[in-house]
Amino acid sequence: MNRRIITIDGPAGAGKTTVSRALARELGCVYVDTGALYRAVAFEIKYRQVNWQDSTLLEQFLAGLELDFVMQGREPVLISSGRDISAYIRTNEISMLASATSAVPQVRKALLGIQRAIAGERDAVFEGRDMGTAVFPKASYKFFLTADVNVRARRRFKESNASGISFEKILEDMVKRDRNDTQRVISPLKQAADAVLIDATELDVFQVVEKMKRIIMAI
Ligand code: C5P
Repeated sequence: MNRRIITIDGPAGAGKTTVSRALARELGCVYVDTGALYRAVAFEIKYRQVNWQDSTLLEQFLAGLELDFVMQGREPVLISSGRDISAYIRTNEISMLASATSAVPQVRKALLGIQRAIAGERDAVFEGRDMGTAVFPKASYKFFLTADVNVRARRRFKESNASGISFEKILEDMVKRDRNDTQRVISPLKQAADAVLIDATELDVFQVVEKMKRIIMAI
């Protein structure tokens, strides 16, 4: 593999998105948020009222799915069937539905090819749950970013200021999502054997990015 692929996996709220975006900027490469793809699937299932537990209906839905990232300046914007849906996929409801539907083998299979095709031949930072284990097992650099669940929930709570959702509900749903993501049969969330573990419980974004850069420069 000539191009440079950097994978950042980890649980919700560990800071993957902010860190991946900052790292990609500093390294001058593309940043891909694969969680957004799973969220887009959940969003379309909800709004097209797809009975996703029926495998034939799910198969039909997935065959018609048109997901892509389009570069707007330096930021990739997720486009689903010609629409920018990024403003609608960050709700708690979509988080929980994405967590449930991402455990379905057909969904993971449909998104695997899309993810591998997205970066094309460009260098890229990919963030998600199974980047280093399943999607890019031969990535140039792999990181597993985590933090204490209370700290992660507290960060999400601060981000959700206007939504009215309580800290307790955020924490409860985060624990549920962690459990779904780590216990599913296909591509569960886990640290790849050759990934570097970074615990960000007491680190800010700058410190995490510096740590990653030091490791990348040293290899
Ligand atoms: O990263 P984010 O929280 O946006 O991801 C939403 C959900 O999508 C996760 O809880 C997880 O269930 C799923 N996901 C996944 N594999 C990925 C990225 C996200 O299963 N690579």
